[in-house]
Amino acid sequence: MGREEDAGTVGELSQTGVSKVTTQARDEIKIGGLGASRKRVEDNRFIRGKGNYVDDIVLPGMLHMEILRSPLAHARIVSIDTSKAWAIPGVRLVLTGEMMATRNLAWMPTLSYDTQAVLATDKVRFQGQEVACVIADDPYIAKDACEAIVVEYEALPVIVNPTQAMAEGAPLIRDDKENQQDNVIFDWEVGDRDGTERAFAQADLVSTLELHYPRSHPSPMECCGSIADFNRSTSKLTVYMTTQAPHIIRAAVALVAELPEHMIRIVSPDLGGGFGNKVPVYPGYVMSILASILLERPVKWIEDKTGNLISTGFARDIYLRGEMALRKDGKILGVRMHTDSDHGAFFSDAQPSKFKIGLMHSAFSCYDIPSAHLTARGVYTNKAPGGVAYRCSFRVTEAMFFQERMVQAAADDLGLDQAEFRRRNFVRDDDFPHRTPFGFLTDSGQYGKCLDVGLQAIGYEDFLKQKEEAKQRGRLLGIGISTMTEPLGAGNSREYDILGIKMFDSAELRVHMTGKAILRTGAKTQGQGHETTWAQIVAHELGIPAEDVVVEEGDTDTAPFGMGTYASRSTPVAGAAVAMVSRKVRAKARKLAAHLLEVSEEDIEWELGRFYVRSAPDNGVTIQDCAFAAYSNMPDGMEPGLENVAYYDPPNLTWPFACYIATVEVDPQTGVWDVLRVVAVDDCGVRINPMVVEGQIMGGLTEAYAMASMQFITFDAQGNCIGSNYMDYLLPTAWETPGYELHEVVTPCPHHPIGAKGIGECATVGGPAAFVNAVLDAIKDSGVRNIDMPLLPDRVYEALTQRHDVSGAPPVKMDDQ
Ligand code: CDP
Repeated sequence: MGREEDAGTVGELSQTGVSKVTTQARDEIKIGGLGASRKRVEDNRFIRGKGNYVDDIVLPGMLHMEILRSPLAHARIVSIDTSKAWAIPGVRLVLTGEMMATRNLAWMPTLSYDTQAVLATDKVRFQGQEVACVIADDPYIAKDACEAIVVEYEALPVIVNPTQAMAEGAPLIRDDKENQQDNVIFDWEVGDRDGTERAFAQADLVSTLELHYPRSHPSPMECCGSIADFNRSTSKLTVYMTTQAPHIIRAAVALVAELPEHMIRIVSPDLGGGFGNKVPVYPGYVMSILASILLERPVKWIEDKTGNLISTGFARDIYLRGEMALRKDGKILGVRMHTDSDHGAFFSDAQPSKFKIGLMHSAFSCYDIPSAHLTARGVYTNKAPGGVAYRCSFRVTEAMFFQERMVQAAADDLGLDQAEFRRRNFVRDDDFPHRTPFGFLTDSGQYGKCLDVGLQAIGYEDFLKQKEEAKQRGRLLGIGISTMTEPLGAGNSREYDILGIKMFDSAELRVHMTGKAILRTGAKTQGQGHETTWAQIVAHELGIPAEDVVVEEGDTDTAPFGMGTYASRSTPVAGAAVAMVSRKVRAKARKLAAHLLEVSEEDIEWELGRFYVRSAPDNGVTIQDCAFAAYSNMPDGMEPGLENVAYYDPPNLTWPFACYIATVEVDPQTGVWDVLRVVAVDDCGVRINPMVVEGQIMGGLTEAYAMASMQFITFDAQGNCIGSNYMDYLLPTAWETPGYELHEVVTPCPHHPIGAKGIGECATVGGPAAFVNAVLDAIKDSGVRNIDMPLLPDRVYEALTQRHDVSGAPPVKMDDQ
């Protein structure tokens, strides 16, 4: 293998021991390339309070929009009287559904082939739904004017869970849809029904589990917002907005508002977190755009926290029922799963079109199971739209939670050690590529090794002894394991599209004459550190120091088309495009080097940042020399400049693996549980920036802990959203957050140009089961199989003392009902 190829394969970089680190690897760390724990460049502005968020932007003549939301979850609109609002000085426009309808904008298409009301016309279908909006000189006038709007409602029966939705005679929520006879959105199945039947016929034991993964909210620090600025004289519409997928928004605006795409510019500036909350198209965006077109003034809409928590971007809310066919030696023969997912009033979450319940069927991918079958039903209820992929690849969180809860229940049913049960069923290292029971192709991993590293780190055997000793003294200790491989990087265009648009991504690299560069991608960072890590990939591929590469994302006028950032797809797809575009640039630089060194291209070799003559290694030119030549001394006939663009269509998903282990102590007097230790072993292939990766894991584990322990947002029988504030929906602070012990295993991704796999959401996906399994392990003697999240102390106490499972499914009973 020549040095040129060497420079492109870096799996060895993280795998080699210190003594074996190559000169290239040392040089690479110096320039901030692959494997360097470079400090995040974007933090320079964030920690100084100099970030530029949508709400920081002030445009001349800007007006402000506020939304009036429905207090009821299901009601017919009898009348809307806006006269008092219009009469308030400073009010410029009051929009209702009726007015939107005259422009065919009362309803909009969703990213899942459904329709969604922009402003309600016929009836309201969830508490918090948009009913009217006011545009005024300042936000306070707009808010006061909203309160002056009088809406008369006629209340209708409310549905808050799938059982109610599917009951005989249930009120029809979507009576606006011509062919909709009931509240079912889809009935979908995947897997091998007959093969699974046969597996169950051969089983020695069938283990079953039912649970509800509750509604949760991504709750980014920054809420949603937009500033639409339509300029009549240029016919250009510029929208600054909180979006994780600016190009998709541009396409949606072009298609829905019938504006020419080249006259639309979407700018997503700094985002204060996204976590999937900023993927859908929300009515607020549409109304601010229409208002700006009508008023020919910039119109700003900034959502408040309550609005954000009750109306946008809900996730999960899925009921799972599963059965596992087991042989008594611990072999899993087959799995049967059924899901009922609650999507709220509109099916608006982004899904790959082919997969109605997202990647739910990626469950059990790390286990060698001969056959599996999944049936999935999605329903409408009187709740805000749900099902967004909160730090998750389209329902992977629910899939892995269910998988790992079932695995623990099955191990208990068999009387087998939970770690040993996993080990017996893992796909082995030499079984790759491996076809999963639902048809995915996993390509790499060292599952047994990750588990062993985790068990050793936590001191598994010792802990089991401690647990027994503690039990003698009335103390309840528990240990929970969660292991999973997760499909990240949607996706190859054969299988993955949203609304028919294929899920590739892109990067454009321009090297200036002094060797400095600008890189733009179709992804959009929300805090993940792309400005830092993408520059590291360029440094690795071209030898240009990372600090010489500026990264820009989020402006559709300048960035190449891409599907945006969610589902941890950035590194697998856009990150791959960054490597590929760098290689294209290097190919041209090689021609320039041959010209400068006066030899033929075939005689040129590459090492990090430098081309040299094979027969005379001292005779070389740097990448910076080549960049200068591209503008000042190119060979005859060569196009000047040093830049290129790459669109990357990944051949497969990437399959990172994780093993999370938590130990807890439950107080039998109160049901309060404390985390003792958390060990995380992640294999995300080659790590571009180990420090950034560790940050992603710690953040993900914190969200996992929050979901498992304290985040409570639910609905009462009238559809009132309970927990729509930070008194109930708790975000862990540094005080509550446990400490984490992180470990790594590196199995490079065989098809990714730099061997990387996604990491951003692994810990959020895999973490909750570790905490819940640990608590259930601690109270195992009570015979309780399940407590729904969050495992609030009263639920744990009820389970312990009443010795029964505890469901958290809505409607909840409120004290005052
Ligand atoms: O799509 P998103 O950026 O949310 O997730 P990701 O692709 O998993 O990347 C999260 C952050 O971790 C990015 O800054 C990546 O470049 C970085 N990362 C890394 O340094 N090494 C990896 N193998 C994977 C991600």
